[in-house]
Amino acid sequence: MKDFPYKNKSSEVYFFSYGRLALYAALKAMAIKPGENVLLPAYICNSVLSPFNALDIKVKYYLIDEKLNANIASIKQQIDDRTRAILVVNYFGFPQKLDEIKMICRERKLVCIEDNAHGFLSAESGQLLGTRGDIGILSFRKTISVPNGAALLINDATKLAEKIKPFIYKKTIDDEIRFFLRAVKIMFGKLAVPSQKIYREDPPEEENNFHKYMKQISFLTAKLYDKAELGRLARQKRERYSQLLKNIDRERAKPIFSDLPDGVVPMSLCVWVNGDREKYIRDTCVELGTRTYPWPSLPLDVQDKFADQMMLYKNLVCFPV
Ligand SMILES: Cc1ncc(COP(=O)(O)O)c(C=O)c1O
Repeated sequence: MKDFPYKNKSSEVYFFSYGRLALYAALKAMAIKPGENVLLPAYICNSVLSPFNALDIKVKYYLIDEKLNANIASIKQQIDDRTRAILVVNYFGFPQKLDEIKMICRERKLVCIEDNAHGFLSAESGQLLGTRGDIGILSFRKTISVPNGAALLINDATKLAEKIKPFIYKKTIDDEIRFFLRAVKIMFGKLAVPSQKIYREDPPEEENNFHKYMKQISFLTAKLYDKAELGRLARQKRERYSQLLKNIDRERAKPIFSDLPDGVVPMSLCVWVNGDREKYIRDTCVELGTRTYPWPSLPLDVQDKFADQMMLYKNLVCFPV
């Protein structure tokens, strides 16, 4: 892939089909032992859990507030002497505040994993997100139209016990087929219609179906990537974000990030909805002529342990930009 901007900034870049596979490779290279754990934000999609489950690594959750900032007190509370790493998420392409978390990692000798699956091309003060932690995860398939595509950034190899091993995964064309079907749906305007069942409680398999995703990066990904005009794509996303921000009815929904700092390339505009989320989705899809989606499908464990956070977590709606 030419002009992959992270190649200059980061010490090592490894390509994968999915972000969860990149995370799996990183966890393997960290050689985490049974009984050790990694901290994850409680506001997380259940697919992130799948590599942990596949490797039988324990996870512990810390809280996230309504601005999607990590709660530092909760992180400190969750760390124990078997913790090996803290994973932080740049939600929807917006930078998570990392300074304090990196300091905790330094003091406690933990690996800081910057999950930047949502923020391909996004930067803070000129530094690309994903390059700020010891390890970075990208899932550029969410930003560029490709059948699949993700990367693992090793920014500090000294934190790994073993080298990243090349993986030989099976070759399938499932993702290419899905990609073409989606293109056809877009052509016929089908994706503009909100789906019938708006809040999808993903079956728990999503947390355990990791092996389904162990496949090679698509042969089409590099070709499509090389054709994409990254600068234009980033500008378009910023423009669409600003436009949507202007059109959101603030009485009914509150944008989480109501500013768009320089360098940020957003994946979606997200709002907290006052009242009935499903009605809001139905109405705004029609009013704004856009698709929306709820995020995330929370892990079942989070749904059980953080019952009081659920009202907040379940009231978010995303508009892709
Ligand atoms: C925050 C976050 N990290 C990682 C992933 C995993 O990326 P992928 O779907 O490419 O495996 C996702 C997927 O949605 C995600 O939302």
